[in-house]
Amino acid sequence: MYPHAPLHLDRHNRQCAGPFTAPAHEARQDRMTTRTQDGSAGDVDYGAIGSGCSSFRRPDERIARFIAQALGDSRTVLNVGAGTGSYESTGRTVTAIEPSESLRAQRPARLARAIDAVAEDLPFADGEFDAAMTLFSVHQWSDARAGLREMRRVTRGPVVILTCDPTLVRDFWLYRYAPEVLDTEARRYPPVEQLTAALGGTGTIQTVPIPLDCTDGFNEAYYGRPEMLLDSAARQACSAWSFVDDRVREHFDETLRHDLNSGAWNAEFGHLRGQPTYEGSLVIVRATP
Ligand SMILES: C[S@@+](CC[C@H](N)C(=O)[O-])C[C@H]1O[C@@H](n2cnc3c(N)ncnc32)[C@H](O)[C@@H]1O
Repeated sequence: MYPHAPLHLDRHNRQCAGPFTAPAHEARQDRMTTRTQDGSAGDVDYGAIGSGCSSFRRPDERIARFIAQALGDSRTVLNVGAGTGSYESTGRTVTAIEPSESLRAQRPARLARAIDAVAEDLPFADGEFDAAMTLFSVHQWSDARAGLREMRRVTRGPVVILTCDPTLVRDFWLYRYAPEVLDTEARRYPPVEQLTAALGGTGTIQTVPIPLDCTDGFNEAYYGRPEMLLDSAARQACSAWSFVDDRVREHFDETLRHDLNSGAWNAEFGHLRGQPTYEGSLVIVRATP
């Protein structure tokens, strides 16, 4: 489905280059994106799970620095799948698009109002923005390739994607306790080579180190704080948990509690409790034309 782009990369900072050959007629064709009553356009209905403003998903300032670096000196930035506005800098002119009405309504007043639109059909002119970003979002889109082509079309400079590398998501202790959750993640996240290929130009893939006290509560953020994932509200803030049934959650809860009480978790993974950062599946994909 995606054109192949060569990767010549190491684990930390990978580079790839390939021509962007999207036919012009494909870039603006009408696309059918299914929307829920709330307007949600991806594989999660935020009107139903309602986890947008979770106190467990606060932007982390150290991760924010990696995003800022990837955006460089861009002044005008498009944020696609902006949600409640995490990682939007007030030092730049940000245009946010967000399909879910409930998430748009939860954006703080200091941020720009988000436009109701979907990645696959952006209501902007060619080259309108210095840069564009999409954070923890591309795995939810119904057509990632179309959405990324749209981002490339409306952006003069870098397109920045914060996402997870699906080949790495299972390399995490959580896989021992809830394999179904990480199998779901591995299926949802598009391969990073497909992202760079869809964007064309010159792409880099950079591992983002996750801090031990990360404030943005995606699963790997709790690498050294396993007890946090015993809180159902913390789990609900990661959409993958909404794809599995109660049996998976109960099994996870029982087995992790057991291993924490018996000392088995500490014996095997306890070193993570003091490890300042964790290099897991979190990556920034960046492409320039
Ligand atoms: C996990 S949230 C991330 C929100 C925000 N970027 C953040 O980092 O907090 C995923 C977001 O992607 C949005 N989304 C899903 N499908 C989309 C699509 N086809 N086009 C644009 N946004 C989409 C969702 O509505 C949601 O806001």
